[in-house]
Amino acid sequence: MTVAVSSGKNARIAIISGASSGIGRQFAIDLDGDVRLDEIWLCARREERLQELAASLRKPARVLAGDITDKKWRDRLLLEIKDSECQIHTLINSAGFGKFEAFCDLDCNERMVEVNCQALTALTSLCLPYMQNGGRIINMASVAGFMPQYKAAVYAASKAYVISFSRALHQELKERDITVTAVCPNPMKTEFFEANGIEIDANPIKKIGIEDVEKVAAKALKRSDKGKDMSVCNLPAKILRVISRILPHRLVLWFERKSGF
Ligand SMILES: NC(=O)c1ccc[n+]([C@@H]2O[C@H](COP(=O)([O-])OP(=O)(O)OC[C@H]3O[C@@H](n4cnc5c(N)ncnc54)[C@H](OP(=O)(O)O)[C@@H]3O)[C@@H](O)[C@H]2O)c1
Repeated sequence: MTVAVSSGKNARIAIISGASSGIGRQFAIDLDGDVRLDEIWLCARREERLQELAASLRKPARVLAGDITDKKWRDRLLLEIKDSECQIHTLINSAGFGKFEAFCDLDCNERMVEVNCQALTALTSLCLPYMQNGGRIINMASVAGFMPQYKAAVYAASKAYVISFSRALHQELKERDITVTAVCPNPMKTEFFEANGIEIDANPIKKIGIEDVEKVAAKALKRSDKGKDMSVCNLPAKILRVISRILPHRLVLWFERKSGF
């Protein structure tokens, strides 16, 4: 369903997927103060959440509730973009989820690829023809994308896809001066882990790396403004990135399996 508010022709807009919670919601709050934008479009399935968020923003906000993997929903979004004759300045692909079990114990492996990779790619290609030069795309990846992860085979691979896709696209869009930034945080306290019944605080090693949602979003926007293709926020995440370049991935996977980490 769409709830329309219009800033008129040529409005500069931000489209945020996954805006109903977590870092997607935080991006909406941060972008509310961005003078380059006239309107914010909020996307996710939970419409009430989006309505509440829209009502709390100062800028006009449009609620486009639906499943990002649903082609019909994406067609409606496209129609909305065409009808409003807007220019997309910012696209934030934050919709995503992860499940952390052995591959054979999960029944959502394909769904993870569908949401985290396929829909993200589809939304990007849908928006790109309507993006203004000098605009930006911010894609939520993860430190999990730096290397394969034991008992997170599909999630880690889906985030490796997001990193690889974002960095290549960043180069391809240089001529249009569109920055594409892959954001790679460590665990953040959002509904992401709640949905898994995982208390990240309970794991002493993972606890060290926990990131603050507000800081991750602020840094991602800053890195994007600087024209960077990656945003890695806290020190443990940066260390992980270095480790992923130095240590053989087979060794890291062996350690994860043996230690149950
Ligand atoms: N939290 C972490 O520790 C962490 C760390 C690294 C990377 N990330 C990544 O950051 C992104 C955001 O995660 P988060 O922590 O903010 O989690 P979150 O609070 O669970 O938010 C996920 C968002 O995605 C939306 N979403 C999920 N499936 C959807 C679908 N099929 N169609 C439309 N919207 C959908 C959800 O909205 P509805 O349920 O209302 O549809 C929600 O707004 C994800 O891509 C995640 O992989 C998270």
